[in-house]
Amino acid sequence: MTMPMSSSVVTNSIDRAAFENFYAGPAPWDIGKPQPAFTAVADQVTGPILDAGCGTGEHALFFAARGHRVIGIDFVEEAIRRARRKAAERGLAVEFLVKDATALAQWGKRFASVLDCGLFHVFSDDDRRRYVRGLAEVVEPGSRLFLLCFSDEEPGTEGPRRVSRQELYDAFADGWEVESVQPVQVEVNPEFTEVKFSQGGPKAWFAVVRRQG
Ligand SMILES: C[S@@+](CC[C@H](N)C(=O)[O-])C[C@H]1O[C@@H](n2cnc3c(N)ncnc32)[C@H](O)[C@@H]1O
Repeated sequence: MTMPMSSSVVTNSIDRAAFENFYAGPAPWDIGKPQPAFTAVADQVTGPILDAGCGTGEHALFFAARGHRVIGIDFVEEAIRRARRKAAERGLAVEFLVKDATALAQWGKRFASVLDCGLFHVFSDDDRRRYVRGLAEVVEPGSRLFLLCFSDEEPGTEGPRRVSRQELYDAFADGWEVESVQPVQVEVNPEFTEVKFSQGGPKAWFAVVRRQG
């Protein structure tokens, strides 16, 4: 399957139907473990934790196994079903909810850390703004967002939208501090061979963003 192309002004997110289609089989991003960028900062991640766009839950489960209280949300029911099944098999208590990450406002929850592995880069400009506004309502001053997104250094247009360093600073300009943006590479499911990414995996940014008080 081909996902929508990147563009400097994007009005349409990758929609739910496209994601449901991915979850009809093994999803390209589903590698059965957390991305190394997240395990590398595990000691900085404090609970309670929100895993936004959690997919089948590997990041949520990793942090739950470290003793944190975690809620994972995804708008695809099949992803949440798989995540709940994994939690039961691993004996881990994680709350997995079918929920739209662009509708976080007025949810009434508060988190010390938010994980975003591959969610931000699926949004249109409008949804990106809605998401960031909603995030501001579910964190406390000092809370951190750990975000992995495709970078504009990844050649081509197939796969998710490319994001520039500047777009990250722009998206979090109001009430947030971008503490770091590091170049990393994303591990993809080796069964997914339809798109040729860079050797070693798609180039990405790993950003740590702190909510200001
Ligand atoms: C690239 S996948 C990453 C999944 C997971 N974080 C991982 O690393 O395996 C993006 C996920 O975001 C979910 N998603 C996309 N838009 C969403 C939205 N508006 N609300 C909640 N989940 C969404 C998709 O269903 C998909 O599971």
